Amino acid sequence: MPEATRKPEVSVWSPVLRWGHWALAACILTCLLLHEGGTWHEGLGYAALALAAWRVALGVFAKAHHVRFTGFVRGPVATWASARAVWAGNEPRHLGHNPLGAWMIVALLLAAVVTACSGAIYTTDYFWGNNLVYGIHRIAGWSFAVLVPLHIGGVVLTSLMQRENLLLAMFTGRKRQPESGDRPL
Ligand code: HEM
Ligand code: HEM
Repeated sequence: MPEATRKPEVSVWSPVLRWGHWALAACILTCLLLHEGGTWHEGLGYAALALAAWRVALGVFAKAHHVRFTGFVRGPVATWASARAVWAGNEPRHLGHNPLGAWMIVALLLAAVVTACSGAIYTTDYFWGNNLVYGIHRIAGWSFAVLVPLHIGGVVLTSLMQRENLLLAMFTGRKRQPESGDRPL
């Protein structure tokens, strides 16, 4: 596209956030592939825990609104209104995450922490063979088989509705400049 007609872009996702995302996704998906346990499963599971904990810390302490949880996670009323707007096809574009996407992020991070912690607890001498801990690890671990396709579906749907490649934005960190009617978060 010639330089003059290319739309100006704004930097939204920092490199550490982007590569942290892809590393977390890779660790979790590999843990699922190696679901029979073992050294790699456990090592990558601990790495997933560290990455998820780091993203939670960013969500609590970061200054940027689209990174901090209180900046982009909405209450039930706003989320329901946004879901209805998505259904009606007139949801405004969000520079960060839309409210449904935000709750998916919370669910993915929570599932990562619960799965990895329960796995770590299960491998201690005291809890080895404990059905409750194993059951929690099993359910939380396999919940990704539902959450990840929904997450990807949300990304594809939002990309189509906003006419913006969100997958590419998660690699480059850049999105189209806000236009009138867009939400700044
Ligand atoms: C277990 C696997 C995955 C986990 C745990 C995960 C988790 C997350 C999290 C926590 C975020 C928020 C980013 C942030 O604010 O830090 C996010 C956003 C995103 N993820 Fe994933 N993700 C996974 C897999 C994938 C895959 C396979 C794709 C490929 C399509 C993908 C595409 C995206 C995109 C495009 C965004 C940005 C969405 C937006 O702009 O609102 N994710 N993901
Ligand atoms: C977020 C990262 C993790 C994911 C997604 C995950 C996922 C899974 C899944 C899906 C299973 C199979 C459950 C079944 O159907 O029976 C499993 C088993 C297991 N996981 Fe994890 N896990 C993770 C982290 C960990 C960690 C950190 C540890 C230990 C330090 C661990 C230890 C184990 C063990 C010992 C088994 C049982 C293997 C067997 O003997 O069948 N996992 N995990």
